[in-house]
Amino acid sequence: MRVKLMATLALLAATSAPHPALAAPREEAIKGAEAMIRELGGELKNDLTAAMEAGGPAQAIQVCVSVGQEKAVAVAARHPGRIHRVSLKLRNRENRPNELERRLLENMEADNAVGNLQPTYTVPFSEKGDEYLLVMKPIVTAPVCLSCHGTAATLHPDAVAPLAEHYPDDEATGYEVGQVRGAFSVAYPLN
Ligand code: HEC
Repeated sequence: MRVKLMATLALLAATSAPHPALAAPREEAIKGAEAMIRELGGELKNDLTAAMEAGGPAQAIQVCVSVGQEKAVAVAARHPGRIHRVSLKLRNRENRPNELERRLLENMEADNAVGNLQPTYTVPFSEKGDEYLLVMKPIVTAPVCLSCHGTAATLHPDAVAPLAEHYPDDEATGYEVGQVRGAFSVAYPLN
């Protein structure tokens, strides 16, 4: 019975005009997840630029750390979903993606390589009997990011030492503008 329902849902999802009652949970999950991502990452570029101007890399490092750690916890506390930041090339091992997240990150990189990066990537999954929608949004490198994620030529001289001290196994350098640095990832409950 459940299998049959899933098959019906899959069929409906494939048609261009899904049944509103069945489409709603997915649409709600995407809306909820996007609100969480805006709260966590919406001001990242501005906040980083302001901190770089005010106190250089030493101050700006705290901004990027907070978004990945305590700010993410605070945003999740206000919503039903879970949120964190992930990448295929890690600076902080805590930001390691799971298998599903890894797959979507790989899709993002492949899409970006052919100029077809999508604003959002989603896939449903179940965990301990509950259904979730994984909603991921690519984080693309802007010029301000290169101070701490760039190549030897673009890394800020004052960033090199603190990064080496705090992240001895840092993989998150060598980036150029327009690459997928990582993604915001939300697991949002369906229904
Ligand atoms: C002043 C230094 C600095 C700048 C500028 C900076 N970052 Fe970071 N970034 C860090 C640090 C430090 C971490 C590790 C954070 C942590 O401990 O969770 C990090 C981690 C990340 C991560 C999480 C994945 C990982 O590697 O652990 C992403 C994604 C990321 N940065 C994206 C960006 C983007 C996009 C920009 C530009 C808009 C940017 N960063 C600018 C210092 C910086």
